[in-house]
Amino acid sequence: MANKGVGITITQHILNQQRENPAATGGFTTLLNELIVAAKVISREVNKAGLVDILGSTGRTNVQGEQVQKLDIFANQIIIERMQHIGQLCCMGSEEDPDLIDIPSQYPKGDYIIVFDPLDGSSNIDVNVSIGTIFGIYKRKGEENRIDFLLDHVLQPGKNQVAAGYFIYGSSTMMVYTTGGGSGVHGFTLYPSVGEFLLSHENIQIPEKSKTYSVNEGNYAYWDEKTVALVDYLKSIDKVNGMPYTSRYVGSLVADFHRNLLKGGLFMYPADKKDPKKPSGKLRLMVEANPLAMVAKEAGGYASDGTGPILDIQPNEFHQRVPLFIGSRKDVEMAEEFISGKRGE
Ligand code: AHG
Ligand code: MN
Ligand code: MN
Repeated sequence: MANKGVGITITQHILNQQRENPAATGGFTTLLNELIVAAKVISREVNKAGLVDILGSTGRTNVQGEQVQKLDIFANQIIIERMQHIGQLCCMGSEEDPDLIDIPSQYPKGDYIIVFDPLDGSSNIDVNVSIGTIFGIYKRKGEENRIDFLLDHVLQPGKNQVAAGYFIYGSSTMMVYTTGGGSGVHGFTLYPSVGEFLLSHENIQIPEKSKTYSVNEGNYAYWDEKTVALVDYLKSIDKVNGMPYTSRYVGSLVADFHRNLLKGGLFMYPADKKDPKKPSGKLRLMVEANPLAMVAKEAGGYASDGTGPILDIQPNEFHQRVPLFIGSRKDVEMAEEFISGKRGE
């Protein structure tokens, strides 16, 4: 029953989920709550950054007299500062850090691992387009505490995530997360006047088929023939199967994914030959594809690298990239047919 006036807060929702899990110790609740504090700080800074742009650069410096850092570095530091002291983590992995992030010795370690993209779509902030933060949470595989032995505990397939989700800083700030196992995907909207994330989208289900595709067509000349055949098909006239689809591409993965999660859609970042150092495309397995793949699956959708489930991939290195086809299940399965060569209209 929603409380009078504010509805169900994210804290209440997490506690309800904790109560349903007899083994829960409250550590996970502490972890999520501190992550939410970090997101509130990032949200405030994202909006202020927009304001600064309108007012022109004021050359802001912070209390230590440092130049204000780039937003994605700022977001990265905020998350690390908030998470390192809670005693629930054995280490962290960030898109912005080449190596794993250890927990300072003055703080106790815990059994969880958080991997994150602190600010996704950051190239869009200066044009006020929605951006976000993506996170995935794992349990370490044993009692190991030493950072130089923990990489093996971090490089787990995405299906091992105990929770995953994202924050989107857009026309409103939202948090969308799941703890898997059929618990569903739930969305919460930040009410600035209350300072709380309130339940606004309970048990999100992604339509199994859509009419929308999202891809950067500027890479067309760098795709292989199977990818070209897929995208050409999506643009062809095939009334029986609802083609042509509508194209929607924001350039922030979180924003494109969130729209497709709510309304249905097929997001693609295929492999391309644009950069020999990135033959698998631009998106990262650990901090972008895996967390969103867990959300998609839990909402009835699917995520593939074009040949099979993203969540089954055994990572070899933390920053490895992966082709990503994610969203409405039937659309992703169709994409797999093209990319695996089974189909080639
Ligand atoms: P990030 O800002 O974390 O580096 O992520 C940017 C990613 C993702 O948000 C988006 O889908 C993709 O870059 C867009 O890439 P293109 O500009 O190559 O389409
Ligand atoms: Mn990103
Ligand atoms: Mn990023």
